[in-house]
Amino acid sequence: MDVKGSVIVITGGGTGIGAAVAKNLAADGAKVALAGRRIERLEQTVKEIKEAGGEAIAVQTDVTKEEDQSKLMDKAIETFGSLDVVLANAGRFADSLMINTDKNTGKVKNFMTTEQFKAVVDTNLIGTFITLREAARRMADSGKEGLLLITSSINSTGQIGQLNYSSTKVALTLWPKILVGEFHLKHLPIRVVGVSPGYTATEILKGMNETALEAILKDVHVGHLVEPEELAGTIKHVIANDSIDGTTIEVTGGLVYGPRARAK
Ligand SMILES: NC(=O)c1ccc[n+]([C@@H]2O[C@H](COP(=O)([O-])OP(=O)(O)OC[C@H]3O[C@@H](n4cnc5c(N)ncnc54)[C@H](O)[C@@H]3O)[C@@H](O)[C@H]2O)c1
Repeated sequence: MDVKGSVIVITGGGTGIGAAVAKNLAADGAKVALAGRRIERLEQTVKEIKEAGGEAIAVQTDVTKEEDQSKLMDKAIETFGSLDVVLANAGRFADSLMINTDKNTGKVKNFMTTEQFKAVVDTNLIGTFITLREAARRMADSGKEGLLLITSSINSTGQIGQLNYSSTKVALTLWPKILVGEFHLKHLPIRVVGVSPGYTATEILKGMNETALEAILKDVHVGHLVEPEELAGTIKHVIANDSIDGTTIEVTGGLVYGPRARAK
């Protein structure tokens, strides 16, 4: 599949990884439909892409709403004439220990609420499911090749304070294998690939204080945060290389887990 001329829908495309990937792909001639809840952020990214000579549209959607996602795919097809790649990238977290005790009394002072758990499941799991299904339906009916991409996370290995987030992201790493199995059964030429970023230089991490950032980087072999452009490079490679299928690729800078890495 060629990046140039492909029509690519990106959810969570107004900010962070989604916006960086969109700019990068558009610079190589992809036509991008950026989707998300905050229209101002989407329009800003679209403006930057257009100023650089690329093609892009902004579509306001909430990934948890079926109707929104259905309209998003139709809008991309109506505007650009096809739907080739979808990057289900929208995600959120709502961190807390499951139970948190007070350091003086030892008694439980707060806990992760059911709403906090469900909100993350809704966006990261249900939202990704709806996005991929609405895209795949149209790709299958078109009879053309398609590619479904999923932004997973290295936190799928299990992160303290992220019982909700880690649970959703580890589930997503199973999807490329399951879906490719289903498409193979039905002779559909739709590939499915996950991209699992490590600590990435988006607003939240860049905004961290230096000590917190240094502590994170102690565990990263290459010694720097993953740049969103490096993720875009991986995605471009996946688009162009159709032997990459049914798998999740980690882009972590060689993240090392556990106390051994910190014992230097
Ligand atoms: N930044 C990192 O270090 C990192 C590491 C691993 C994985 N990720 C994953 O990468 C993806 C992008 O994250 P990011 O770092 O760019 O952060 P981000 O907050 O900039 O991006 C998330 C995007 O998803 C959108 N979004 C959230 N809920 C939505 C909903 N219901 N409907 C539509 N859009 C919604 C947000 O508005 C935002 O644009 C997420 O799935 C995140 O879990 C990020």
